Amino acid sequence: MKGVILAGGLGTRMMPCTKVTNKHLLPVYNKPVIYYPLNTLVKGGLKDIMIVTGGNNAGDFLVLLGNGSEFGLKDISYTYQEGEGGIADALKLAENFADEGKVIVMLGDNIIKDDISGAIEEFEKQPKGAKIFLKEVNDPERFGVAEIKDGRVINIEEKPKNPKSNYAVIGLYMYDSDVFDIVRTLKPSDRGELEITDVNNEYIRRGTMTYSIIDGWWTDAGTFESLYRASKLVAEDKI
Ligand code: DAU
Repeated sequence: MKGVILAGGLGTRMMPCTKVTNKHLLPVYNKPVIYYPLNTLVKGGLKDIMIVTGGNNAGDFLVLLGNGSEFGLKDISYTYQEGEGGIADALKLAENFADEGKVIVMLGDNIIKDDISGAIEEFEKQPKGAKIFLKEVNDPERFGVAEIKDGRVINIEEKPKNPKSNYAVIGLYMYDSDVFDIVRTLKPSDRGELEITDVNNEYIRRGTMTYSIIDGWWTDAGTFESLYRASKLVAEDKI
């Protein structure tokens, strides 16, 4: 399976730092943010990864990650998202790269402790559809939130004011090749973005969405508070 890391967006929540760099290049403890999702996919056994980035500092990803051999990759590709049209808009750019196969998509600002090799094996066996990962949190209103009934996710709400559960949908998604057809049907949300939550709800509607609850810690690093938290977690755990 191939992997896609979404590291576009303009990082407006992290000004003034993101005036001169991309938020995925800021440090979490002793490594740039992007190293963590990259290492998660590499440890999961992926050898072929595409980075989708954007903004004024996109060239710095090439300088930092080079041809990927330092990470044990066979191939690394880069593409450029114009503007900030949303996570699903960034994913669109990976369609040719995916080459009609299954893809694992990780948000460039998400950091997890767990090894995902087992989940990748499970998804390889899943005949079709998608798989998402959930984590119980104290502040679900910041995330996509899953509503679970009789052991199935029946709906996901993006940043709900009154969350139906404490289960956040983390920024790690596994999709079959239908994902690109689904993205083509999306309309921008109220915040003007193509939402990954709308993609996931379509898989739920089709009855082909599975989920796993992750055991280890998870954080994003897309705000100053979460970046600080990420550094503390990594430093304590030395991942
Ligand atoms: O962190 C998990 C959450 O990520 C999920 O629970 C939400 O359902 C999902 O919508 C997302 O929420 P955020 O609002 O926190 O996403 P954010 O806009 O911070 O973007 C997360 C990453 O996605 C970012 O590090 C880079 C990538 N991205 C984002 C946008 C808006 C792109 O590549 N292009 C984009 O246009």
